[in-house]
Amino acid sequence: MSEFELREIGEDDLDQYYDIRAQAFGRPESERESWSARVATDTDALRLGAYRQSDLVGGLRILPGGQWLEGRRVGLGGVAAVVVRPEARGQGVARQLLFSSLGWMRDHGLVTSALHPATTRSYRAAGWELAGDQATYDVPTRSLARLRVDEMQTVERLGPADRVAVHQCYGRCAPARHGFVDRSDSFWALRDSIEDEDGGFVYGVRTGEALAGYVRYQQQARSDSWGYHLRVDELVADDPHTAASLWRFLGTHSMQVESVQIPAPAVDQILLLLDEQDARPALINRWMYRILDLPRALAERGTSFAGSARLNIVVADPWPDAPAQAWTLIADAGTLTAEPAEPAGPPRRRGDLTTDIGALSAASIGRFSTRALAAAGRLGGTDDQIDVLGQIFAAPRADIADDF
Ligand SMILES: CC(C)(COP(=O)(O)OP(=O)(O)OC[C@H]1O[C@@H](n2cnc3c(N)ncnc32)[C@H](O)[C@@H]1OP(=O)(O)O)[C@@H](O)C(=O)NCCC(=O)NCCS
Repeated sequence: MSEFELREIGEDDLDQYYDIRAQAFGRPESERESWSARVATDTDALRLGAYRQSDLVGGLRILPGGQWLEGRRVGLGGVAAVVVRPEARGQGVARQLLFSSLGWMRDHGLVTSALHPATTRSYRAAGWELAGDQATYDVPTRSLARLRVDEMQTVERLGPADRVAVHQCYGRCAPARHGFVDRSDSFWALRDSIEDEDGGFVYGVRTGEALAGYVRYQQQARSDSWGYHLRVDELVADDPHTAASLWRFLGTHSMQVESVQIPAPAVDQILLLLDEQDARPALINRWMYRILDLPRALAERGTSFAGSARLNIVVADPWPDAPAQAWTLIADAGTLTAEPAEPAGPPRRRGDLTTDIGALSAASIGRFSTRALAAAGRLGGTDDQIDVLGQIFAAPRADIADDF
């Protein structure tokens, strides 16, 4: 394995980063300028590169933000654009980039991290675990056109001048959605860029200066048939009436668009509105999640468990800088604390729960029950301990609406 050095990717090297990205994801040359311009202005984000002398061989980005978990904000780093040159793959470049980025996140108060994986193994090996669905569903456009909406609201096209109102609308709605991202500038830059692209649209319902809701979507040409594809990025509304008006507005495309692609966070809402079960899975992937600062992540998250409990747990973590491996978790009247336990580290002490950081992270966000993790060999302990941990972490399904 030849050596490489990790350092931030300066603006002068954005071309090299785009070259690797274009090759890794099959992106066209036509995106270079807009991508580079956006990434250059994301001053709150980390761009970390692996270099051999002046040659960039791999990189990733960390978008700082938060995540709403049952109404509480927990610091979150979104991992994006993880790419390694084909000739440098399989040499630990991605692993070192990921571990190094964990240190940056911790120093910036980002106590958890999420990503959309193209490979599960790479990220699982670094401590992330599957945590929620990132699916898209196809809904026949004619079914949307038939939605019954009492007094359809006026839906109008929005432009760059409405961005502040769009951000405010999302900011009002997101805290009530378990898993939604509290967007920083760099998260917003990514979302806003969709409407700058060819075929990108935002429509909304106004209430005076403010917005009661909006839908952002993209139209894409199709080569296999007439018409075009319509892919909803997000539909956000203050109230059910506005949401229904926006869904039916999408139905007005039915003469050219056979079915509308909608993201997972919207599927429950649309299933409850449609006359028939007309939402069919088109693509299912899962986003991954890891806690990187256990005491702070649990303190920020809290628990809906009303009782009090104390559990000793040994948590294996592949990150060399993980602060401790033996913890005492204390739940008390809605607060959650993790204290390093003595001795600080393995071997496992008799009677402790045992797990790994990925499994604990997935349990903490409610994706896998503690019983399911135990059945998969990822959590060890007595049935009582496993069930108490499950009660501490009990949570609804977490959705992330952002693709990054
Ligand atoms: C995925 C990618 C970033 C991995 O980079 P890398 O430097 O080769 O990865 P590493 O050498 O650090 O390997 C780390 C772990 O990932 C595994 N891994 C690497 N590439 C993999 C692949 N294509 N499929 C499955 N596992 C893979 C390694 O086996 C290792 O796991 P292990 O320790 O359990 O054996 C790289 O293959 C790439 O750029 N792919 C194309 C772009 C892409 O898909 N990026 C991911 C976006 S989410």
